[in-house]
Amino acid sequence: MPKLDKVLNIEDLRKIARRKLPAPLFNYIDGGSDDESNVQGNVDAFGNAKLIPEYLVDVANIDMSTRVLGREISMPLFLAPTGMSRLFHHDGETAVSKAAADADTYYCLSTLGATTIEDVAAACSGPKCFQIYVMKDRGLTREFIQRCKDANFDSLALTVDIPVPSNRERELRYGFSMPPKLNLAGIAGFAVKPAWVYQALTHPQAQLANVAHKIPEGSSKSTSLMEYIANQFDPSVTWDDMEWMMSEWGGPFAIKGILSPADARKAVGAGVTAIMVSNHGGRQLDGALSAFEALGSIVDEVGGECEIICDGGIRRGTHVLKALARGATACSMGRPYLFGLAAGGQAGVAKALELLRAEIKTGMGLLGCTSIDQISGKHIT
Ligand SMILES: Cc1cc2nc3c(=O)[nH]c(=O)nc-3n(C[C@H](O)[C@H](O)[C@H](O)COP(=O)(O)O)c2cc1C
Repeated sequence: MPKLDKVLNIEDLRKIARRKLPAPLFNYIDGGSDDESNVQGNVDAFGNAKLIPEYLVDVANIDMSTRVLGREISMPLFLAPTGMSRLFHHDGETAVSKAAADADTYYCLSTLGATTIEDVAAACSGPKCFQIYVMKDRGLTREFIQRCKDANFDSLALTVDIPVPSNRERELRYGFSMPPKLNLAGIAGFAVKPAWVYQALTHPQAQLANVAHKIPEGSSKSTSLMEYIANQFDPSVTWDDMEWMMSEWGGPFAIKGILSPADARKAVGAGVTAIMVSNHGGRQLDGALSAFEALGSIVDEVGGECEIICDGGIRRGTHVLKALARGATACSMGRPYLFGLAAGGQAGVAKALELLRAEIKTGMGLLGCTSIDQISGKHIT
């Protein structure tokens, strides 16, 4: 198994993650919905666009910093929210958020995180966003918002692309559902990874930390929590709910999961700070546009009126450059840092960030750009 210092790219981290994690967990990260056409499709979409460099430009000093959701970040890439990160390494969200802070970029904690809002705030000195799913119990959403204010989070993101659960067959094959009912294949997947099992048994159990207080003491906590949260997803959420959330919060706000220019226009009308163009990493509507494919029409509709984040399929620095050239403010990623987390905890996440930072910098030099605002439509076809 290659060591972290021998890792050359995100795919190397993925290979280590595959070897280290029990199969149900690796497949939970790696998989998508239905035929999973969007998982690789999100990456491949970048291949259809080509960069156009300009030469004989002084690129001795390159500044990759930019501004997102009210904070300056050191590069145009940050960490999207992912649920239950502590399943992949016992240091979980704490490790991820610390690596993000060290890299001077944003970390988004998921509603389904296995670490509390307060613990992430204590661990992470960098920019922090809390990602919300609006729950049937609006009191819980109100409570999340208040806790984020008290813990000095910088922004909120509302994920809108899960109106109903999607069909994820890799999860079903192992019985890795909500709540988990592992079948033989699932149990066997854990049995052959004793190192992971040892770490899991010698650390506190991963659970949905931000809703743990909603389950009565003494009940089988992890199962009841999963059941609770699965029942809390609200298929009747509308734009009015988002506007209510924005008025309760009153700070930088992102809507995550937009693919249509018409929705982008509504989001701008509601006053969002940022639109995260995303198909949820290919985990929701299979066959939907990829973020990169949707980007151009959304930039045409609302470019300059709010920040536009390209989320999904980023595996190389040049993918970030292509998104910026198409008009994105910045990009976000999920799996690349989760593979890093599984491969080596905080150091693995730092490695993912370091690799992509170096690739973005090299790409900017090769493109002939020394700052993010110099990257524009003339650099892409
Ligand atoms: C294992 C996993 C869990 C995720 N959990 C959440 C979540 O809780 N909330 C959310 O808004 N998005 C979630 N996402 C989607 C990510 O925020 C992001 O949109 C996606 O990973 C981007 O695609 P990429 O993995 O190709 O970078 C999850 C993604 C993965 C891979």
